[in-house]
Amino acid sequence: MSAGATPRHDETHGHEPVPILRRVYALVPIVAVLYLSFMAFRYLYVQLFIPWQTPVQVAAIRTRLTEEVWRTRPEEFVGTQLAEYPRAPLAHYHHIDGWFQPDQVNDCTRSGCHAPMPHAEHKEVRAFLNMHATSLHCGVCHMDAAPPRPLVWYDLETGAPTESPALLAVYGWLESARGVTLREAPTQAAQEELVGLLRKAARQAGGDPAIEELADRVAGPRWTSAAFQEAIAHVRERLPLHFRGEYGAKLALRGADGRPILGHPNSAAAVQEYLTQRETLSGAERDAVLERVHTARSPQTLNCTECHVAEGSLLDLESVGYPPEREAALHRGWIFQAIEHILAGQPLHLPGFITPDNGSAAPTATAPVEEGR
Ligand code: HEC
Ligand code: HEC
Repeated sequence: MSAGATPRHDETHGHEPVPILRRVYALVPIVAVLYLSFMAFRYLYVQLFIPWQTPVQVAAIRTRLTEEVWRTRPEEFVGTQLAEYPRAPLAHYHHIDGWFQPDQVNDCTRSGCHAPMPHAEHKEVRAFLNMHATSLHCGVCHMDAAPPRPLVWYDLETGAPTESPALLAVYGWLESARGVTLREAPTQAAQEELVGLLRKAARQAGGDPAIEELADRVAGPRWTSAAFQEAIAHVRERLPLHFRGEYGAKLALRGADGRPILGHPNSAAAVQEYLTQRETLSGAERDAVLERVHTARSPQTLNCTECHVAEGSLLDLESVGYPPEREAALHRGWIFQAIEHILAGQPLHLPGFITPDNGSAAPTATAPVEEGR
């Protein structure tokens, strides 16, 4: 039995398990190849035929700086989140990285009606207009007043009339004949005065470390040294970067009592009505209430060149402490005119040498912003 059983044993327990093992052994790479092919085709199919959704990490970022986000959760604004180089709201403009100061007394924004950067309609100008909103009260542009419009600086916390910003005073000094004297015949007294003004500007900008650093640079070296002159050159270069939203004050229209006009007169009841009922109002009712809210609103919006012109500007900026050099820069009309033209849908004529092929083929370039209209 044992002799006969041995070959049988070999047959059943020696031969049969081997093919199964082999089959299993062959099956593994087959399954693996099939699986990988499936994954590869699925990847291709998904890539080619299924449209991509914007990832939540991107879609959920707040790019619109609304009143609510700005006051309560500023850290959710995209500008403050992008880790290495956070983008401030004004970073559209080269190097303007400073955060702008909240205006606690502007009725248009604190009412809960408008965002502090309210312009959204035309992308050609909205960034420019929002930049203005950091140093001009809405009423300067949106309310009527005979030219030159009477202006006054107001404190962003108290709304009281205040002096013109130290930043402008420093700039005016360094760019004027007095600035030439400071470079050619510096004195200790002048150095101290300059440091004092810069510290004041930093304070007015809510303790801005970058302006504080400018003050430190000027304070460090001896007034007779080359390092002092280098510090002055550095200040002249950097100062203009702080002109937007860092004055600690804003310009508003000046009322007959000399105080700033910070909201529409006699509109409190209509504002309440609007805020409590805005969800339920019909289109026409809403317009009617908004008409009563905006008691002083001008029906016309201003063109850039109504302010940005040398002759007949709506604003007399020198009367509110703008140095002539700064005013002259703001009145160099052509650049503002160019933007106005882009808004009106006209082509932007670039000089030939700017076009890539040295202008031989395309003397005129159409402003790229027009494509999106
Ligand atoms: C430098 C002048 C200026 C200042 C300051 C200004 N605006 Fe405007 N605003 C304009 C102009 C010009 C337009 C028309 C814009 C257009 O054609 O796109 C406008 C349009 C608007 C609109 C409607 C269209 C849009 O862009 O959404 C609203 C709302 C508005 N402004 C609110 C405000 C509020 C609120 C403030 C203050 C926080 C303010 N503006 C400050 C010049 C200004
Ligand atoms: C009501 C008058 C007024 C109107 C209208 C106006 N601006 Fe201005 N703009 C100013 C004032 C005042 C400043 C300086 C603000 C400051 O000191 O921060 C300024 C500053 C600027 C600057 C910064 C220039 C610099 O050298 O720093 C630019 C750019 C500009 N405006 C473009 C425009 C454009 C484009 C328009 C039209 C869409 C426009 N402005 C409409 C009054 C106006």
